[in-house]
Amino acid sequence: MIIAIDGPAGTGKTTVSKILAKRLSISYLDTGATYRALTLKALDNDVDLSNKDVLIDLAKTLNLQIQGENVYLEGVDVNFKIRTPVVDKNISLIVSYSEVRQIMVELQRKLAKIGDYVVEGRDITTVVFPQAEFKFYLDGDTSVRAQRRYNELIVKGLDVNFEDVKKDLIRRDNADKNRSTGALKISEDAKIIDTTNLTVAETVDELIKNVKKDETGR
Ligand code: DC
Repeated sequence: MIIAIDGPAGTGKTTVSKILAKRLSISYLDTGATYRALTLKALDNDVDLSNKDVLIDLAKTLNLQIQGENVYLEGVDVNFKIRTPVVDKNISLIVSYSEVRQIMVELQRKLAKIGDYVVEGRDITTVVFPQAEFKFYLDGDTSVRAQRRYNELIVKGLDVNFEDVKKDLIRRDNADKNRSTGALKISEDAKIIDTTNLTVAETVDELIKNVKKDETGR
């Protein structure tokens, strides 16, 4: 079984997906982590990000292990490093290359091949797992989403400014919605959940309610 969750940054997708997977005793895959790890590798190797061919090669040879919440690049735990503003700033160009996306989509399908998974990202309901049993689209007010992202970075001890975080979030929203492949869009059969006024626990409850409702056929 696949529970596919899409939506823009700051909707709490990652947090609620992890909790949802735990509550249902199934596995969890954060596909954003795959693109973040690729971006980190490109930055660490001083790759010219406009050089698509080099990025395709990097994607093909990416030595990435994802075990639930743990992300290892070439055997090194990169969970903190892949979620820093420098990765946020540089990721949009890399994820816009359709050949790079094709390689990463194959990797994501392989990672969630065996067992039941909550898979979250931008194109999970539309491209990666269009046949998923459950499809959700989490949304939310832009300022509220920016505030959540800002809080996350502050808790991590990073020196950031709210306006910069908000600007970057809007820039990524636009890039995600307007790229030619794997764009963020609402799948026709996805249930939309507006998280603006919901806590994490309330969002998870809403997701569970929908999964259970469907399973019992009511
Ligand atoms: O969910 P996130 O913020 O960790 O995602 C990081 C970036 O990766 C985001 O700007 C969009 C991109 N992404 C994507 O293009 N497709 C996915 N399935 C997941 C993330």
